[in-house]
Amino acid sequence: MNKQNRIAPVSTTVAVSLGNRSYGIEVGRGLLARAAELVAPVLQQKRVFIVTDSNVAPLYLGALEGHLASAGIRCDHLILPAGEASKDFTHLTQVLDAMLAAKCERSTMVVALGGGVVGDMAGFAASVLLRGVDFIQMPTTLLAQVDSAVGGKTGINTKAGKNLVGAFHQPRLVLADTDTLETLPRRELLAGYAEVAKYGLLGDAAFWSWLESNGATALSGTAAGHDGLRHCIVTACEAKARIVAADEREQGERILLNLGHTFGHALEAEFGYSGALLHGEAVAIGMVQAFDLSVRMGLCPAADLARVRAHFNAVGLPVTPPKTRTLTPATLIGHMAQDKKVKDGAVNFVLAKGVGKAFVSRDVPMAKLEETLRASLSEQP
Ligand code: NAD
Ligand code: GLY
Repeated sequence: MNKQNRIAPVSTTVAVSLGNRSYGIEVGRGLLARAAELVAPVLQQKRVFIVTDSNVAPLYLGALEGHLASAGIRCDHLILPAGEASKDFTHLTQVLDAMLAAKCERSTMVVALGGGVVGDMAGFAASVLLRGVDFIQMPTTLLAQVDSAVGGKTGINTKAGKNLVGAFHQPRLVLADTDTLETLPRRELLAGYAEVAKYGLLGDAAFWSWLESNGATALSGTAAGHDGLRHCIVTACEAKARIVAADEREQGERILLNLGHTFGHALEAEFGYSGALLHGEAVAIGMVQAFDLSVRMGLCPAADLARVRAHFNAVGLPVTPPKTRTLTPATLIGHMAQDKKVKDGAVNFVLAKGVGKAFVSRDVPMAKLEETLRASLSEQP
């Protein structure tokens, strides 16, 4: 068969190999419409409880429930208010109460239909409901499709910081329907692209070069862009699947996936999860700061930092925090001390020796950290 006549595969499957908890990530178009057929092999009973949010529900919930119901699968659901502020104890209680009120059983499947907020919340609720039930991720943001829906980290935010209460609980299946990205606001698409870029920066210099040449097209919303985005999602999922299989509980290599996150979480804590700064935007700024710190410590060529800044500028990602409030290095460093990556009182930083060469360091001089943050804050637009 020549190339023109070859039919494109409906979806690509990326395997996450974790013994008897292994699962597949399906990436492609039209997956929600095929949900009944795709979820059937992992259902223990013909019953699901769907958690979604107020933006996603009007777009996809009715159709998904229709497809599942036509295969005889009973659906109950809960719709959370959209946004990071829902990822808290109050809403966790609501989710669990709704699941119990619907008389969910141990064999009922929880489904997370939405972005990372819904995925983290529904996954955590599934991990504690009746001492643990199975769940499926149906991510509808780029960020969730390339990162949060894969790897089993679930949880909520508390006053003390991001994701400080949670559980490792792997999904039984991930359905990343790339058609859903067509309704995603551009700002959210870009925020997800920061996590795509992360995979290039942390360990795949060739993918980073591909992004420099093709990233803007992938974000363009065109047909060519859709193919590019799909390449980004598959590449990111393959990288994450490999890392999670090697280090599920983040004892070693998985720490690299936090490139930009120690800085980014400190910014998010300051901006109060208000929408003024999205998680992916905070991570983009944090990755620039991590590269800047690496340069200041004499570990990374300045030219590599310049490449990161240039590409983020080219696609429209922020490289410095918004100037909507007064920040100081001391406040940000205070938040970093609360980070989950603190070990024996020292913060684990993910630094880089260059593009594609991230590593973990516990030896960051305070003076260099302060210098980096001061420089970043003085540049605030
Ligand atoms: P989100 O879930 O808040 O979604 C972003 C916005 O897009 C929301 O307003 C949502 O309603 C809307 N939306 C979702 N899908 C849509 C669609 N298809 N069309 C139109 N609108 C849509 O945010 P996010 O960026 O997906 O996820 C961020 C969260 O993920 C943070 O809480 C972060 O901590 C978490 N996270 C978790 C992990 C992990 O490993 N568990 C990794 C990275 C990030
Ligand atoms: N997003 C980081 C991780 O999953 O480990």
